[in-house]
Amino acid sequence: MTETTIFPEGFLWGGATAANQIEGGFNEGNKGLNIADVLPGGKERLEVLNKPGFNWEIDKEKYRYPNHLGIDFYHRYREDIALFAEMGFKTYRMSIAWSRIFPDGDEHEPNEEGLAFYDRVFDELAKYDIEPVVTLSHYEMPLNLVKKYGGWRSREVVTFFERYVNVVLNRYKDKVKYWLTFNEINSGVMMPIMGLGFAVQKEEDKYQPTFQSFHHQFVASALAVKAAHQIIPESQVGCMLIYAPVYAYDSNPENVMYALEESRFFNNFCGDVQVRGKYPAFINRYFKEHDINIEMEDGDLELIEQGTVDFISLSYYMSRTERKEKTADEIGQGNMVGGVKNPFLKASDWGWEIDPMGLRIALNELYGRYEVPLFVVENGLGAYDKIEEDGSINDDYRIEYLREHIDAIGKAIEDGVEVMGYTPWGCIDLVSASTGQMSKRYGFIYVDLNDEGNGTLERKRKKSFYWYQHIIKTNGGEL
Ligand code: BG6
Repeated sequence: MTETTIFPEGFLWGGATAANQIEGGFNEGNKGLNIADVLPGGKERLEVLNKPGFNWEIDKEKYRYPNHLGIDFYHRYREDIALFAEMGFKTYRMSIAWSRIFPDGDEHEPNEEGLAFYDRVFDELAKYDIEPVVTLSHYEMPLNLVKKYGGWRSREVVTFFERYVNVVLNRYKDKVKYWLTFNEINSGVMMPIMGLGFAVQKEEDKYQPTFQSFHHQFVASALAVKAAHQIIPESQVGCMLIYAPVYAYDSNPENVMYALEESRFFNNFCGDVQVRGKYPAFINRYFKEHDINIEMEDGDLELIEQGTVDFISLSYYMSRTERKEKTADEIGQGNMVGGVKNPFLKASDWGWEIDPMGLRIALNELYGRYEVPLFVVENGLGAYDKIEEDGSINDDYRIEYLREHIDAIGKAIEDGVEVMGYTPWGCIDLVSASTGQMSKRYGFIYVDLNDEGNGTLERKRKKSFYWYQHIIKTNGGEL
């Protein structure tokens, strides 16, 4: 270890993945089907995510289902964890597939084979002193809960989630200290299929179920925080937000106010509830305008107040630029989170605008609003990689992207922000959540698998593997 750097001692360097995007083994070990198992690969995925009327059925004649194989982590976790250890990971963010533990979601007894699998994974991590950070729900609730109960719209799902959470907390209490509740909880306003487990049938009908589902997740999250603190006194539980700072396109006060409103709605609403423990005042007007009436049970608001999180974890991929008046052409030209094109920014091959300064802004905004520790648990560049004739993969574009974002975190720390760690997304190539592609690669480790599902699954170290190894070794001191 070098002399002191901007990054505090014990900074949690590592990488992040999610069960449904890496494990595969979709029908092994008594696992039940989950949401990701019925999502097709390729451009059809974005279509089903955005078009009303998704039917939750598998149609192998018509589609491929890349999450069924993932990258076969289910069978190769030992090799993969050894590679993480070789990079010097202090931490590894992963998720537990709820449908491995409760295949249907509503049964009373958990599935021992599923529990035993994660025991093996945690034990393997412990061998290398890698601290797990575990997401309880990352875009994959059991499909039965979607079909039978309508996903998170149903209050009953809170009870099933509570049961699942209690089982995993008790089982892994000596192995896992850091927990996250719902991955990118606020993404439910964009993609309810993945985060909330229901498909919108008609655009105008989405408001009530979306916010009713959020309420159920807030209650479920508060229950999880309370249970974790009780079962594992030294545990720390975080919420998980997709954060995209919203810039006004220009200094027109109309646009500044619009950007502020959009940011509050997208970036702050869920955090306000989960960190401050109450619904923010600004949401009342929105509820009124969209005729939203949340059904609550007695005690819900007290529970939400008692079950606030210990820290905020966030994903950061892009900022968003907003103008109140937009032409039809401009809408959606910005990037995945909306907005208009920012003339100062370049974009990835998938149109995601690259903005390292936005990460510094995000961290400052979040810390200024909540003053709790922050953990950047996702960030990275989805890019096409090429294998050279000598077998090397020279992903300098990824190195540059990550270097600039790590630098931005360092600057935020100098600004006074408390940052616990950094786990870039897809530390090993995996199935893309939004497109189901393998060719949208994020990893330090290449996986030989293509969009058609062909390949040897062999793992290869990219140039960024060695670069990140050095970053960790020097605690970010030699960017
Ligand atoms: C986040 C998700 O939205 O971004 C991940 O938490 C996802 O699951 C990541 O994979 C990158 O998005 P994509 O669509 O490029 O896989």
